[in-house]
Amino acid sequence: MIPTYNEKPNLRELISRINSACSAKGMEVEIVVVDDNSPDGTGALAEELRNEFNVKVLHRAGKLGLSTAVIEGFEAATGDLLVVMDADLSHPPEKIPEMVEKIRSGDAQVVVGSRYVKGGCVENWPIHRRLVSKGATLIARGLTKVKDPMSGFFALERAVISGVELNPIGYKIGLEIMVKGRYERVEEIPITFADRKAGKSKLGASVYLKYIDHCIRLYEHHRPWLARYMKFALIGGIGAVINLAVLWISVEIFFAHYLWAAVLAFVVADTNNFIWNRWWTFRSKGKVHVQYPQFLLVSIDGLMLNLIILKTIVEDLMPTLGINEDRASMFLVIAQVIAIFLVSIFNFVANSFWTFSDDIKQNTANK
Ligand code: GDD
Ligand code: MN
Repeated sequence: MIPTYNEKPNLRELISRINSACSAKGMEVEIVVVDDNSPDGTGALAEELRNEFNVKVLHRAGKLGLSTAVIEGFEAATGDLLVVMDADLSHPPEKIPEMVEKIRSGDAQVVVGSRYVKGGCVENWPIHRRLVSKGATLIARGLTKVKDPMSGFFALERAVISGVELNPIGYKIGLEIMVKGRYERVEEIPITFADRKAGKSKLGASVYLKYIDHCIRLYEHHRPWLARYMKFALIGGIGAVINLAVLWISVEIFFAHYLWAAVLAFVVADTNNFIWNRWWTFRSKGKVHVQYPQFLLVSIDGLMLNLIILKTIVEDLMPTLGINEDRASMFLVIAQVIAIFLVSIFNFVANSFWTFSDDIKQNTANK
């Protein structure tokens, strides 16, 4: 599968190298080029190459994106063993037989051409591109053990993705397959990632944001409870800042009584938390006039619980541990950190099983 957009200078060399690499091992190969109506005429060149090589060409109306190109290529390909690679000669076609062999021998069902295992490397990348790549790889750590989950060079058995719903807005199709695919073993083989031979990269800045969004969605798929809790905690943290800001403004600028200000701060911050959690954490479509009071009630209970936990730690636990008065102020902060953590779990669980229970059920049913 070769997705192409303006790759005319690279395509002939790539296809002929794929062909030689495979025929040297006596392997039959079908090459599927998915071209998005490249202005430079890549599509027409691909058509010409059909005379010399076993090439199938899909022409799409315009630049519709890398992931969907790969998915359409999968549908058009006739084989049961699929290989995806870039057209710009940054992936060495000579590695294809080795990747295929690993699958054929049953060692793995997915094989990734990897820059980040021993023996792999990147040629001529400036420091900032290396850092961005490493950072992006780090974000995906919790999703897969693969060291180079961003790789655009990988092989798989068709069975890995049959019946799996691949999300076409997901930017990294390889990562999507590594997370959602049905397989037992994945292997990485080292590659040297060459800088593209001609043309320029099609990946712009918005790609990074899309990537982060994609990772969040994959975490939701992979570890739904952890992902939801992390979002809930993040929103809660922002809510705490809002709380303090409202408190300060009410007292300093509007001369409100500090207790009324605190009540107002609580309601504003909690309303903010409700809106974001409903929309983002729980992706809910339930009735706001039912959920909102439930959410507030949970938070008020949480607040009570906070006081109880804090009092227990400060008055019962600390004296038993022999913590004396003069060190108490620091321990008060620690006690409150523990209390907030426990309360956040209480609030999260209560909202999951009460306020947003229908949405949780629905999300689980969809999988
Ligand atoms: N059909 C189609 N449509 N092909 C596309 C499109 C599109 O909208 N956008 C890009 N391509 C093709 C390019 O022609 C090339 O063959 C391949 O997809 C990768 O595009 P590049 O522009 O070369 O991407 P890159 O080098 O920045 O990124 C590559 O390396 C990354 C690892 O650092 C890709 O393989 C990424 O998936 C990979 O993460
Ligand atoms: Mn490239």
